[in-house]
Amino acid sequence: MNETLRIQQAHRSIRDYKTAPISDEMLDQIIAAAHRAPTSMNAQEISLIVVREAATRAKIAECSGGQPWVIKAPVFITIVIDFHKTDLAVRKAGKTQIIHESMEGFGVAAVDAGIVLGTLITAAESLGLGSVPIGSIRRNPQGIIDLLGLPPLTFPLVGLCIGHIDLDSPQKPRLDINTFRHEERYDASGYPAAIETYDAALAHFWTEVVHREGQPWSEALASRFPSVYFPLVKPVAAMQGLLNDK
Ligand SMILES: Cc1cc2nc3c(=O)[nH]c(=O)nc-3n(C[C@H](O)[C@H](O)[C@H](O)COP(=O)(O)O)c2cc1C
Repeated sequence: MNETLRIQQAHRSIRDYKTAPISDEMLDQIIAAAHRAPTSMNAQEISLIVVREAATRAKIAECSGGQPWVIKAPVFITIVIDFHKTDLAVRKAGKTQIIHESMEGFGVAAVDAGIVLGTLITAAESLGLGSVPIGSIRRNPQGIIDLLGLPPLTFPLVGLCIGHIDLDSPQKPRLDINTFRHEERYDASGYPAAIETYDAALAHFWTEVVHREGQPWSEALASRFPSVYFPLVKPVAAMQGLLNDK
């Protein structure tokens, strides 16, 4: 196995960081890697806001529901959907941009943001650093918009804590790979048995491996998915001029 595959297959989110800063050289390399990520139609409609100020990270943690690792990790990167940037280009060419009002636009930007997120994570892990994505910034998107000075046509989609690992985490088990990889055609016939097995594996992981409170997979999803757990996304995105009705 080569080094890239080893790093990717060893992935685990890290939530215990040393407070030591990340060097400029490391951060520059991580961001340069993500800057080269593929982007739909070469639109490059993503911006990263790098926050190192402790007071700003504390406010981001507050907007995110009080996650202590946001305070502890020395770097927090917010991945922003940025149709403000593309709007300037479209205006320069004499046309009116409307893609930001559509499902297509939000979906394309979310894909590009995900590629950037994954690239940042692999780059950080390749330098021996740990990271954890923070989707909970969408709990209070307006708070993040105000804090980071984001203009109309932008939206803070997800964040990422990066830092030196204090306490390493064991890898969390996944659903059987056959529920992920389908050959030639979609096949859900193995799902019920796989979910049964995975519920037991995750219950074992919480009680025997990490010794923390945690739910089997089906119960964890059942506690989140019966509601829209971050209901401010749609109204705040609409106020930013995104995701209207197209
Ligand atoms: C888009 C995204 C958002 C996430 N948001 C959070 C979050 O707000 N807080 C957190 O502690 N972990 C968050 N995570 C981390 C997941 O909980 C974690 O990836 C998952 O439990 C699998 O664990 P692993 O990464 O250690 O394999 C997020 C992950 C992703 C990909």
